[in-house]
Amino acid sequence: MESDSQKGSLKIQEKPLCRLFGSCGGCQYQDISYAEELSRKEAILKEMLGRENGLPKEVFEPIVPSPEKYYYRNRLDLTLRKRNNGERQMGFMLPGTQRLQEVTVCAIARKEINDFIPMLKKEAVAKLPENYKVANLVVRVGEDGRVFWGGIGRRSLNMREEDYFWTHIHGRKIFYSLDTFFQANLFILGKVVSQLEDLIKWQKETVFLDLYSGVGLFGIALAGRAKEVVMIEEGSDSVKMARYNASYHHFSHVKILEGKVEVHLPEVLKGLKGQPCVGLIDPPRAGLVPSVVETLAYTEGLSSLFYLSCSPESLARDLKRLLQTGWKVQRIMPFDFFPRTRHLEALAWLVRF
Ligand SMILES: C[S@@+](CC[C@H](N)C(=O)[O-])C[C@H]1O[C@@H](n2cnc3c(N)ncnc32)[C@H](O)[C@@H]1O
Repeated sequence: MESDSQKGSLKIQEKPLCRLFGSCGGCQYQDISYAEELSRKEAILKEMLGRENGLPKEVFEPIVPSPEKYYYRNRLDLTLRKRNNGERQMGFMLPGTQRLQEVTVCAIARKEINDFIPMLKKEAVAKLPENYKVANLVVRVGEDGRVFWGGIGRRSLNMREEDYFWTHIHGRKIFYSLDTFFQANLFILGKVVSQLEDLIKWQKETVFLDLYSGVGLFGIALAGRAKEVVMIEEGSDSVKMARYNASYHHFSHVKILEGKVEVHLPEVLKGLKGQPCVGLIDPPRAGLVPSVVETLAYTEGLSSLFYLSCSPESLARDLKRLLQTGWKVQRIMPFDFFPRTRHLEALAWLVRF
């Protein structure tokens, strides 16, 4: 007879959808139910942030599930490699190795990308110059199902204006391209924007800082609520697209600063002159450099700070310092941007006390 614990473990087991599960290194949770995956992710986040920063349980909100647990990624990064025997392989490099896992399907990539993989290999092989042994390919699909790829040749990731990808956030079009960062799961994006919009105490004079802004996703989506939006982004391709987004929507109150947050932020904060100001920071996986943490730590101009992080480790480290300097965590809101994988996005809301 089955014991209760055996029955319990049977309930949480699930058959992986992908035949590469376990060998490509991309997914870790295809063999358990989605409910179980979400509960494990919540526990990991509580452990990591709670242990490091002594946060009480009450600040943690339940994780927001992704509306789609498979076929959600709008971008894949693949390696095309020519072997010594002349064979061409296309797939994922296994982390920390020189081994390549050939890929013909990916159960977390959008179906349009899966349908395109055989053609991608054909086109990329035909384009790979004789003297190239390796190329890093990017393939992306837009909300409307159009697929583009690049990665061979200097300007191969540039797109023509008429080809730009776009997605609708709260009915507003946000454009991006092959050469810019953009969130990989479009299905859940609107939920993060709604959460921000609801939590910010908008006033007529509110200045919204969108730091590490990319193409301006958050700043553009929330521009209708703010007196002024200031974006800071270092990638010139993203800055170009952020300017395109602002001008497409005729937003003359959106200011876009090209360069590093650590360079521009002190000046921006000094210029606030008492206006109410809310900041959103969405840095890369490594989190904030110490000088940005120090600038945020001691600025009086910001009343509320939202930190969107794709790395609980970096978030825990940066929160530790911010909490020592007058900030308090109101809420931690996890979002499952990357179902079936170990990755976890969290939005931390901090206020001054
Ligand atoms: C995680 S992405 C977020 C982009 C945007 N918020 C979005 O959701 O689409 C991080 C962005 O920060 C930019 N970045 C990285 N380091 C930076 C720095 N020191 N200063 C300004 N931008 C930086 C990257 O180019 C990238 O566009």
